[in-house]
Amino acid sequence: MTSEKTATLSADAVMASAPSFTRPPVTVPEYLESTYWWAYTHPNAVKVFERQWLVNLILWGNFSRLRDLALDELAPAANGNLLQVACVYGNFTEKLVQRLGPQGRLNVIDVAPVQIKNMHAKLQDKSKVTISQQDASQMHFDDASHDATIVFFLLHEMPLEVRRKTVTEALRVTKPGGKVVFVDYHRPVATNPFRYIMVPILTTLEPFAMDLWNGQIADWLPPDCKNLRMEKETYFGGLYQKVVISK
Ligand SMILES: C[S@@+](CC[C@H](N)C(=O)[O-])C[C@H]1O[C@@H](n2cnc3c(N)ncnc32)[C@H](O)[C@@H]1O
Repeated sequence: MTSEKTATLSADAVMASAPSFTRPPVTVPEYLESTYWWAYTHPNAVKVFERQWLVNLILWGNFSRLRDLALDELAPAANGNLLQVACVYGNFTEKLVQRLGPQGRLNVIDVAPVQIKNMHAKLQDKSKVTISQQDASQMHFDDASHDATIVFFLLHEMPLEVRRKTVTEALRVTKPGGKVVFVDYHRPVATNPFRYIMVPILTTLEPFAMDLWNGQIADWLPPDCKNLRMEKETYFGGLYQKVVISK
């Protein structure tokens, strides 16, 4: 009886001291669980995919090149606050951390607990890194809290509305004068044989990916960002793109 009363009082006390705004817990989105459980959310996914040679094969030998193109764009912010939106298999984050300057800090977010755990396990030097479970389409960071933001092969894995919100969020949390860097799939030129090889692969395994062939990242910008400076380059016969938006 006494302990029951104590428990009630404690709960009341907690409620009284809690801030009026509390965030709902982060949950794995339904699209991710149903479409990509085999790649990201199942505990065995990490055992299969966390191999440098495999992520390189998935990108037809272009992983290091695309990684370094992204990291080169982030270089001017090496002593600032950087954000990596979503974990990436392989050594992407390790290489990013190696390029941080003495004042540099990196936030890495992912919505899947399996990926958060894997990032903690694989990253040796975490002294400048904060890893947190967040949904890219509704991040917890303040507006303009980062000097540069990287979104590496994430957009093609998202349904349209989630993709729009993610682009909006990446721009929101990046400071004026900062950069948002997207690296992702793109429609290859007609003479590129991968144009034909990739269609059955993407349509079977990655149901949202063809949106990156049929649309432009510019299409998914929020109205107040449509006039920002945007540079797009394509690689490997157009199969991949890097889009840099300067705020
Ligand atoms: C960056 S993407 C693809 C990267 C690349 N294919 C690779 O080799 O890892 C994969 C990550 O995005 C995460 N992800 C998917 N939807 C997300 C969301 N709404 N918010 C945060 N992370 C998300 C997945 O959990 C996964 O770890």
